This record gives sequence, C-alpha cells and structure tokens, in this order.
Amino acid sequence: MNENDINKRKLDHLKIPIEEDVQHSENYFKYIKLMHHSLPEVNFEDIDLTTKFFDKQISAPICIAAITGGHEISKEINRILATAAESEKIIMGVGSQRAGLEDLSTENSFKVVREVAPNIPLIGNIGIGQISEKNFKIENFKKCIDMINANVMAIHFNALHELVQDNGNISYNLFRSNFQKIRENIKIPIIAKEVGTGISKEMALTLENLGFDGFDVGGSGGTSFAAIESKRKSYVVEKYSRNPADLFKDWGIPTPVSIINVRKVSNKFIIATGGLRNGVDIAKSIILGADIGGFAYNFLVSAWKDYQNDTISNTIKEIRTLKHEIRSCLWLMNLKNINELKNSSNKRVILGILYEWLNQ
Ligand SMILES: Cc1cc2nc3c(=O)[nH]c(=O)nc-3n(C[C@H](O)[C@H](O)[C@H](O)COP(=O)(O)O)c2cc1C
Repeated sequence: MNENDINKRKLDHLKIPIEEDVQHSENYFKYIKLMHHSLPEVNFEDIDLTTKFFDKQISAPICIAAITGGHEISKEINRILATAAESEKIIMGVGSQRAGLEDLSTENSFKVVREVAPNIPLIGNIGIGQISEKNFKIENFKKCIDMINANVMAIHFNALHELVQDNGNISYNLFRSNFQKIRENIKIPIIAKEVGTGISKEMALTLENLGFDGFDVGGSGGTSFAAIESKRKSYVVEKYSRNPADLFKDWGIPTPVSIINVRKVSNKFIIATGGLRNGVDIAKSIILGADIGGFAYNFLVSAWKDYQNDTISNTIKEIRTLKHEIRSCLWLMNLKNINELKNSSNKRVILGILYEWLNQ
C-alpha cells in the first residue's frame, strides 16, 4: 500500500463511523441489568472512582480506546483526546503506529499525545500483521514505545478487518516466534487487543501462555470494522458474487461474553471495549470481570466536534458525563468504590440472547 492509500484509508476510518451507521446490529449491554438498592446510604460525593492501571493511579476506570494516528487530521484529533485525558486523569491508547514506522513524517501525529499528556498512562498500538512479518525487527517495536513513551503496548488482533479489505495482511504464522522475541526483550506490559470481534476463553489462555499481561477484549456489539469496509467498498468484488464485508458485519463474540469467559481463565488486566456507550456500561463491564471500560466511538464523535470548533470541551464533557454515570450507578447500588463493584457479581442479571450465549 502506498502513502496516499494509507492516508485515504486513515481518513475514511475516521469519517465513516461518524457519517454512516457502522455499528453491529445488536448492542448486548441492554441484556444486563444491575440490582437497584432502595436506600443508598453512601454519600454520593464520597464515592471513590479511582482505580489502578498496572502501576498507575487514574481518576476513574475509563480509557480512550485506540482510534487514530498517521495523518494531519489524526494529529489534531490525538491532541484533543490527549489534552482532555490528561486533564481528567484517565487512560488513552493511540491508533496503530504502523504509519509512524513506515513514514517518519507522520510520527508527530503520535508524539503529540505524550507532549500534551505527560502524566497519564498511554497505550501504544501495533497490529498482528506487522508482528508477523518475515523481516520483523524488535527495534520497530521499541520505536513504537519510544514514540509516545508508552506505559503499556497493545498488539491488536484484527483478522476479520484484514480479511475483508483489499490486500489485507492475513498471514500470521510467524506471529508466535516473533512475539517470543518481543517478550524476551521488552519489559513493559503488553496487552492483546481485539478490535470488535472478541477474545474467546481458549484464545485468552493461549495468549496468556505466550506472555501477554492483559487483554482488551474488543468484543462485538459496537463499531464494526467489516461494516466500515463495506461502506468503503474497497473490496474488489468482481471475483465473487458477494462482498464478505457485508456478510461478516455482525461476526464476533459479544463483549460481555468475552469479558466473562476471559475472566474465567485469567487474573490479568481486562479492558472492555466494543459497544460501551455510557457509564452504566462501564459498571456492567466491571461487574462481569473487567477492570476498565474503553470507548472508541463516543470519543471519536466528541473529538470530531471539538476539531471542527477548535475546542476540547465536548471531549471533557463526555469524560465527565461517563464519570457522573458510573458514580450514579454505584450510588443506586449503595457501593462506595470500584472494588466493591468488582465484588458484586451477585448484583447483576443476564437476560435473553446474552443468557443463551453464556449457557450453550
Ligand atoms: C475510527 C476507529 C479507528 C480504530 N483504530 C484502531 C487501531 O488503530 N488499533 C486498535 O487496536 N483498535 C482500533 N479501533 C478499535 C477500537 O479501539 C475499539 O476496540 C472498537 O472500536 C470497539 O469500541 P467502540 O464500540 O467503542 O467503537 C478503532 C476504532 C475506530 C472507531
């Protein structure tokens, strides 16, 4: 893929989720209900949302999930997101740093994040495709860490996305051996991140045995990359009668199912992304076993508005809204802090199709 193609693809990925409906047809969080407590005796303002992300303290269990980088507009979006994340003391992940490695002129679209956010935990990002390359170099992985002084690296697993785009990278047989080299050389935590198709119990075990320190389950129910590619009409359809991007739009393990199943086999850190849309969804994710809730769609929308109006106020407001919603949820359950929420697995009910997913 040449530079112009990568640029166009980056811009498409930012604009399509805002302008078109590329969400999974089902959002599974509505099938989880939390138990109401009629006499909340905890003080609303005293509820403590602080939590830890590896060795760093953050103000609330919220992460701006990987969205972008590698383009002039991405640089501005990243500046907005990182400034807001720093001021609200939450976690931020950058989008795939492949562009920053392949075209040095785009490095600044990632570096800007650490420049404006010196204190918060930052998660770097690179794909299984790059790790699986024959001429993979450990130096490139180190460059990604250094580019943003990352506290944690995420390797994203995006097999479906690669499959439904033209010239996608679908050859991963060198992944394990190359990852072993990474593990031997890199000391910071590395998490395995899905991007909307979820991690199964078996996959979590495999990845933990390979040496991953945590997961972003990135399950189905939110933004669908197959739906994005279907709108981009990037696939050369002449060869087949149907575009696979249309067919696989709803493929994947629902986010709540993925959280529950990964937690069954692992004590490692879990970020939940994939269809979380408000603070109650964070509480639901945590009660199921996650540590942190992550959002791409919500922050893409807020940052895009901010970009057009030269402000950061929409993104700040979105973070404060999420905090208010989690706090409200804890208060209505009479819980003092995030740890109490983690230990309240008896205070949720799972209904309908989600129950079926979990009981077959
Ligand atoms: C525009 C856009 C770009 C994304 N780029 C990346 C990426 O580069 N790396 C990655 O790991 N995930 C990427 N994701 C996936 C998100 O981090 C997240 O896991 C997924 O969108 C599900 O969350 P959501 O339903 O809140 O959007 C991207 C998502 C969006 C919407």
